[in-house]
Amino acid sequence: MADACILGIETSCDETAAAVVGAGERLLSNVVSSQIATHQPYGGVVPELASREHLRAIVPVVRQALAEAGHSYQSIDAIAVTQGPGLAGALLVGISYAKAVAYALDKPLITVNHLEGHIHAVLLEEKQKGEFQVAFPVLALVVSGGHTHLFLAEEQEHGWRYENIGRTRDDAAGEAYDKVAKLLALGYPGGPVIDALAGHGNPRAVKFAPAQIKPRNRGTSSESQTAYDFSFSGIKTAVLRYVQTEDMRSAIDLRRQALAEVATAGPEDVMTYCDQKTLDLIASFQRTMVDDLVSKTLAAARGRDARTLFVTGGVAANSELRKTFETEAAREGLPVYFPSRKLSTDNAAMIAAAAYPKFLARDFAAAEFSAEASLAL
Ligand code: KG4
Ligand code: ZN
Repeated sequence: MADACILGIETSCDETAAAVVGAGERLLSNVVSSQIATHQPYGGVVPELASREHLRAIVPVVRQALAEAGHSYQSIDAIAVTQGPGLAGALLVGISYAKAVAYALDKPLITVNHLEGHIHAVLLEEKQKGEFQVAFPVLALVVSGGHTHLFLAEEQEHGWRYENIGRTRDDAAGEAYDKVAKLLALGYPGGPVIDALAGHGNPRAVKFAPAQIKPRNRGTSSESQTAYDFSFSGIKTAVLRYVQTEDMRSAIDLRRQALAEVATAGPEDVMTYCDQKTLDLIASFQRTMVDDLVSKTLAAARGRDARTLFVTGGVAANSELRKTFETEAAREGLPVYFPSRKLSTDNAAMIAAAAYPKFLARDFAAAEFSAEASLAL
């Protein structure tokens, strides 16, 4: 079945998503129901609320994805669902629904790792544009609200195999964006608003010390073990310290109160309540984040002789990150690929695409599998 159509379902965090993808490369529909408004008042994802919202949204979102693709429940060839990593309760909603549909329709069910999904978002779109020849090994930076991981990928008979060669020791990069935005009262999620405001500040105004990475296991320190790890909790604390020493508290409180009055505050509204000092701090924070992500990724690419670079996950939507990767990777003669912004953040098209090699290999899920909050790739 060369052109099998797979229904993908994704509920690992705060988006309820369903999509239909043909042969891993034809995007037939891609529906994402965001819970941003639900979590906004808390400045971060509240797990119990996420599960409740997934329950509410899952049936209409799947129906819409099938309708937009011109498919019915009967006409799809398989169902793919995110098994992990993610919030256990949120994952369970998608898994229970996918199991029920697969059982009722007697269709194969395929489990997908969310991180492999993000990598396949890039592949799906590049294949859709036309002939795409990937040169291996591929180095993939998966950078989102929950992850900052470097994977070295090689091709195998069915799909790819991955080696995790770097990861964050503490906060994910997107988490740092969200926490800094919360601290500065810029709104939630932090990435898009910081991205929009950073261009109005001086990125050299505030100097942040580079992250200190200690060996993973004491006594077994080696260059290769630690060179490509990240750490983002230090910069979050440094922003807090800057706010305290520069006496920015009252300006932040005023901004918080003012924005609470605006129903759906966009970056332009936030900008109205930011002085130059705040914009400079935002620009400096973003510059430091981008420099760190790009320099470590390129060091890993050199160290492991990568031939292609993929940058994916929610933070890959960042305009400065894209620009810097494009310039710096070109300098090294390394082709770099990103998903479109729509497929950078969580979606189910990437899940349906990642499931296709498994479908060809008849690598179907056993009936008793469950959610794995810390599933590794
Ligand atoms: O991939 P994603 O939708 O969910 C996870 O798997 O975590 O990523 C969400 C994260 C959030 O932390 C959000 O602030 C960040 O991606 N993000 C951005 C941008 N757009 C979303 N970070 C920086 N710049 C952006 N333009
Ligand atoms: Zn994600």
